[in-house]
Amino acid sequence: MPSIESFHPHFNHAFSEMLDVGGKRFRPLLLLSVVQTCKPLLVENALHVALGLEMMHTYSLIHDDLPCMDNAALRRGHPTLHVTYDETTAVLVGDALNTHAFYLLSNAPLSDAIKVKLVSILSSDAGIYGMVLGQAIDCFFEDKPLSIDELTFLHLHKTAKLIAASLQMGAVICELDEATQSALYRFGLKLGLLFQVQDDIIDATLSSEEAGKPTQNDGHKNSFVNLLGLEGARAQKRALLEELNREANTLDEALSQKLKSIVNDYFKG
Ligand code: IPE
Ligand code: IPE
Ligand code: MG
Ligand code: MG
Ligand code: MG
Repeated sequence: MPSIESFHPHFNHAFSEMLDVGGKRFRPLLLLSVVQTCKPLLVENALHVALGLEMMHTYSLIHDDLPCMDNAALRRGHPTLHVTYDETTAVLVGDALNTHAFYLLSNAPLSDAIKVKLVSILSSDAGIYGMVLGQAIDCFFEDKPLSIDELTFLHLHKTAKLIAASLQMGAVICELDEATQSALYRFGLKLGLLFQVQDDIIDATLSSEEAGKPTQNDGHKNSFVNLLGLEGARAQKRALLEELNREANTLDEALSQKLKSIVNDYFKG
């Protein structure tokens, strides 16, 4: 983590705070699992990229929790930045994590060609072609029910694209062939949808202590649970899990085993 030197009383601490308090670190896990499986000697170099990816995700959560978005006071079992400090700090720490992600990617010990591809993927899947567009739709369509196709579009953008990018960025670092990169990206999109189905089930079924964030907070949202019902969302989860296990078998044996173990471990129960 960088140390931000200045006479600001808390900006340096606030910058690292939400990363330090934890989270599942699912996206870096995906990226590093690909590298560990395909080119283990590059894991150290890939850590810079993995941290950048987690910074991008953490910025999205800090902004997601702001009063103008989901208005949440708890994240990763810790008070959100706009509660501990103020909205100004939360907005600026989000901005800083977003831009510093690209600083880390562009300064990573990897070839320039690889780094340009990584920057391109992250800026596309976290930005207007991915997460930001998803968040815009998520917030604009509160209390306006979407069709199932629109719901899928929303969640593919809001959540799935960054998860797909995590696997693809691992593949780019390892210089895997284009076909494998695309297969991993497609697998990641489905995994990301499953991830959001699970997140929506968590909102409906867990306590805020268990989840580390407010739950029963999706009442106005186009969540899978609100559109399909809890049983419908659970059925969707089982169907996606089955499809992912089937799709993993089309990948090379070592990658397939690794991804199946992550997916089945994370989504058991
Ligand atoms: C929560 O992400 C937001 C979604 C995209 C569903 P995570 O569930 O990965 O949150 P952390 O990183 O573990 O806190
Ligand atoms: C947020 O989705 C997805 C992001 C891009 C940050 P949610 O609003 O469902 O995430 P939680 O439930 O607050 O973690
Ligand atoms: Mg949200
Ligand atoms: Mg939220
Ligand atoms: Mg949620």
